[in-house]
Amino acid sequence: MCGIIGYIGIEECYPIIMDGLRKMEYRGYDSYGIAVCENHKIELRKHVGKISEDGSKSIPGKMGIGHTRWATHGNVTEKNAHPHFDNKKDIAIVHNGIIENFSWLKKMLEKHGHKFRSDTDSEVIAHLIETYYKGDLEKAVYKAVGLLEGTYGILAIQMSEEKIVAARNGSPVVIGVSESGNIIASDVSAIVQKTKDIIYLKDGQMASVTKDNVRIMGRTFRKIENEIEKIEWDIKEIEKKGFKHFMLKEIMEQPESLQNTMLGRIKNDSIKLSTGLSKDFLQNMRRVVITACGTSWHAAIVGKYLIEKMCNIPVEVDYASEFRYRDPLIGKDDLVIVISQSGETADTLAALHEAKKKGVKTLGIVNVVGSTIARESENGIYIHAGPEIGVASTKAFTSQIISLILLALSINQELGKNVDEELLKSLKSIPEKISSVLETSAGIRNVAEYFYNHPNALYLGRGINFPVALEGALKLKEISYIHAEGYPAAEMKHGPIALVDEKMPVVFIANKNGESYKKIMSNMQEIKARNGVIITIATEGDEEIKKISDHVIYVPKCREELMPIINTIPLQLLAYHIADLKGLDPDKPKNLAKSVTVE
Ligand code: M6R
Repeated sequence: MCGIIGYIGIEECYPIIMDGLRKMEYRGYDSYGIAVCENHKIELRKHVGKISEDGSKSIPGKMGIGHTRWATHGNVTEKNAHPHFDNKKDIAIVHNGIIENFSWLKKMLEKHGHKFRSDTDSEVIAHLIETYYKGDLEKAVYKAVGLLEGTYGILAIQMSEEKIVAARNGSPVVIGVSESGNIIASDVSAIVQKTKDIIYLKDGQMASVTKDNVRIMGRTFRKIENEIEKIEWDIKEIEKKGFKHFMLKEIMEQPESLQNTMLGRIKNDSIKLSTGLSKDFLQNMRRVVITACGTSWHAAIVGKYLIEKMCNIPVEVDYASEFRYRDPLIGKDDLVIVISQSGETADTLAALHEAKKKGVKTLGIVNVVGSTIARESENGIYIHAGPEIGVASTKAFTSQIISLILLALSINQELGKNVDEELLKSLKSIPEKISSVLETSAGIRNVAEYFYNHPNALYLGRGINFPVALEGALKLKEISYIHAEGYPAAEMKHGPIALVDEKMPVVFIANKNGESYKKIMSNMQEIKARNGVIITIATEGDEEIKKISDHVIYVPKCREELMPIINTIPLQLLAYHIADLKGLDPDKPKNLAKSVTVE
């Protein structure tokens, strides 16, 4: 959840580290800090608040480490911000992850005279390294991490050594290699400004990085080689391009991101999706289990509706945080799909490990290329939505759904079933349809003006649009702090209806071409009878719906399988405009972080 970065090279490190921290601020943004080493002295600076508002002067030096924090242990204070020193202030570290046995380690270290300055779990790492330091930072870090339980991406510097030592277990560490120096970070976005040559550190590995060399060590401390990979990111992809917020930019990018998800995968009316799943396996496949968190979990529920309907295969969906602990009943004829935008979500990664431990075939649907889930899934589909910086997931969700449709189509194709040509045609037209929905943004802002000072809201949908209701409610609550609940529309009678009165906005997803149109109209009547205020996402040309709705947002007609994509766009825009009208920053909602790498 936190972002870590280090630079060592021939340039001044401060601007490089600060720029990297700005790029990674979406990982955590309650406080930040930087340590720079020059002339055998480490200077430390820490701040509470946002890096974008930083006005401090730079610190001279060509080696340093930085950190942007999402608090887990200890309040948001300067003393708890990283980097952390050892006792003597000779060693500084930054850490991303959670050290589970930190209380025990802290007690042990205190008994040996170590004085702690923060309430964090991370500080023990600096003191442990100090304990083992005998003039060799690599060995000291190696011994220290041997005692750590939990997850970590660590960078350490020592005032007399010209190197940064990195260690990884469960939290990402990537190294960017360049002629003017090397950068180590938890995120490619912080590196791409300098270089596109990347080395991914694997779990259990360490790296010793000097200005002109990178040495990787495995679990036994022996030198090993990791490949240098070229990333295809462009720095422009992680800039706002004139939009007020990343979230708005990412919503508006969807015609293009969806096009990219499909690129090269639909050819001459057939699907070209290399999932790695063999025909033999698919023929005997008994069941699909999809597991994920948050918005990706909502995409998983859409996936259940799609795969069951299109492929006639039973699908179960589980929260990754539940799946990993409940000893799931899965076997060799099942396929476990894990969905993750970041590819680093701790619970989703653990769910993947659980499935692999049980010998079950796995498939990852991931956005971030080279992320841990992408690398560890046996089979996979990249969604190619491009970097998603806004904490609220938007374009990744719609690309996840397209990927699930492509997967269902490719399973059918592999099993010799007729390809649904009409659906293929509709898929090709989706970017154009999304563009037309995006054009209604100004009208959606008018609805937001009615909505934004209400404290509660309900989102209701049926069938394949039930997860869209969940996603609409999640978007609203995470960026506008309005309490919102999503429900299957018929469930509303079994409790939530008690909340409905003239102060309750109720958002319905009610497409005319959907199977359940008539039923949802009855649910709308039930809300109207209790004076609820109805906002409807309806199909263009549906004049009838105006009679019962207080506000209507029209979306174009298309195949039912694609409606979750079309319907989600206005809900993303609605949440965005509400947050903006409330003067909130939707890119950095309070208490949240983009990549949830802790349990
Ligand atoms: O990176 P992932 O897709 O694994 O992330 C899962 C959730 O943490 C994420 O979707 C979260 O719910 C977002 N804030 C939703 O907007």
